[in-house]
Parts: sequence; structure tokens; C-alpha cells
Amino acid sequence: MEASSTEKKRRATRADVARLAGVSTAVVSYVFNNGPRPVAADTAQQVREAAEKLHYRPNSVARALSTGSSKTLGIVVPDLTNPFFSGVYSALETAAARNGYSTLFMASHQNPEKEMDRISQLIAREVDAIIIASAQPTSALAGVPRKECPFIFMDQTQPVPGAKCVSTDFQAAVSLAVRHLLGHGYTNIAMLSGKADDGLSDKRIQGWYQAHKETEIPVGPVVQAHFTRQGGYDATLALLDSDHRPDAIFADSDLEAIGALRALHERHVRIPDDIAIVSFDGTVDSQFSWPALTVVQQDATAIAERMFQAALDPQNTPDLQLIDTTLVPRQSCGCLK
Ligand code: RIB
Repeated sequence: MEASSTEKKRRATRADVARLAGVSTAVVSYVFNNGPRPVAADTAQQVREAAEKLHYRPNSVARALSTGSSKTLGIVVPDLTNPFFSGVYSALETAAARNGYSTLFMASHQNPEKEMDRISQLIAREVDAIIIASAQPTSALAGVPRKECPFIFMDQTQPVPGAKCVSTDFQAAVSLAVRHLLGHGYTNIAMLSGKADDGLSDKRIQGWYQAHKETEIPVGPVVQAHFTRQGGYDATLALLDSDHRPDAIFADSDLEAIGALRALHERHVRIPDDIAIVSFDGTVDSQFSWPALTVVQQDATAIAERMFQAALDPQNTPDLQLIDTTLVPRQSCGCLK
């Protein structure tokens, strides 16, 4: 089985491999697509050897046309700078690659118009499914063209018709944080809230009110921040300048908590002696800040793997999956010295 010099120069096709291996093009396709028909082990070996000699690489566009699957997942990332998302997407990429899928990441920069544009681009590229943490409130998601391929929404705790949703159980998670702070004896807890309460899309704020209701402790101030370090920094300074100085802060993302730590240090507020902090996310930054942050840890790997499974097999996936969190005690709440 010798490849001719002409065959070596131009990009080899499936037909070239078939000719060199002495099989039909269909057999070459079965070998590279793992089916749909079985191929005898020695024939498959012959096809692989021919492919190697010709430097053949299966054409993914042609494969998408013939199998109806591009083996590619489209992922719309809201914020490339948030380490929580890096953790989830890194686990998602790993799960996809392990199963022979490529990932095509696009960023919406938290902008609904850019988000719609990125979705259209992914649909045009024939991705098998789109995974997205949307920049839009749940009420606006009906406008997302989700009939073209399976859609998986991350961070959505309400079902979205025609799509699958995977999220941390925000309400239970915030309850866990508040109960932990109350357990320490703090009774005047402020919340830094990264997202406007649109009533549906993010249950962190509902969790906050619910947790206070359960314990009958008066609800502390909620300061509107953004899911950013600057947002947490500004909101904490505003809190310190207000008449309602808290004895503890719950920040609903690690980025806000990092900003809060800086603001507290600048004002010489001791943590946790003067003001304790519990954060939400559990990114690697929370372990390396000083003091290290006590966090409600989101399970980034579980979120990624559930989203991947939902993308692969939407028919057998529940419409809504809520994932548990764990409280990781460190210095910022007063658990560890
Ligand atoms: O959108 C930002 C936040 O939502 C992240 O920090 C993480 O908490 C995510 O769920």
C-alpha cells in the first residue's frame, strides 16, 4: 500500500483513503465516525494506516452534512474575566473533549444584543447544542431562537420552555451562608447583590429574604453591586459610609468579596473581628485572598457535566436541575484563626 507522490501533495480526501485501503468510502466514514455500521478490526486498521500515510484529516464540515452532527458545542460566555465561569468552562471543555466533542466559545460581554448575535453565529456554524449563561432576564428568554438546536441555560432556576436549565440552587445556597453567619452570632448582616432583582432570573436575593424569614432576624441592608471586584469595593465603601454599619457581609460572588476585602482593609476594618465576610462561588481566588474567604462553594464540575449531558441527550434530561452547594469555612467568618 504505497501513497503516490501526487496523493502526498494535495490534501487527501476520503476517496483517496478508500482507494489506498481498498475499501469503499462508506467504510472509511464508518471508521472515522464510529459507525453507524461496524467495521472488522483488520479493515479498520488498514483504513487508519492508509489515512496516516496520506495525512488524511476527516473534514468536519462534510461529516456534519453526512451525519447531521458537527460534534461541536457552542458556548456563550457572559464574562470572560470571572474565574467562576473559567472553572465551569474548563470542566465543560474537558467533558466535551473526553467524548470527542469540540467547543466553540463566544463572549456576550453581558450584553443582550451581542448575546443574540453570538447565538446566531453559533447556529450558522451548525453546532449540536448551545450552552449559555444568559445576559437577559428569564422573562426575555422567550426571544432567544432556541428551536434550531438544543439550548441549555446555566444559572436559570426557573424552567425555560423548550430548553434545559442547570443551576446552583441559589435559594438554598444563600440560606446556608446566612445561617452560618447567624450561627456565629452576627445579627446585622448586609448583602452585596450583584444582580438587579428582576424577580425571576436569579434567586440569590430571594434566598436572602427567605433565610431571614426562617430565622426571624431583621433583614439587613442589601446594597446593589455588580458581579465585579469594583462593584464589591464600591458597595462596601457605601455600606461603611452609611448609618447602618453591619457586623457581617454576605457577598453574592467571589469577585464582589475580593473588592469588599480591599475596601475593608483600606478603612482599617478588621476581618472578621469588626466585620465578618462570607462569599459565594468558591473560586480559587477565595482560597488565596487574605484572610481566606469562607465561601458557599458552587460545584463547577457538576454544573459542567450536567450541562454537557443535557446537550448530548436533551430528550432524557429533566427541564430543570438544581445543584447543591457546600459551605467551606475559612478565616473571613471567624471559623479558622
Ligand atoms: O454572573 C456572575 C455570577 O453568577 C458568578 O460569579 C457566579 O456566582 C454565577 O453564578
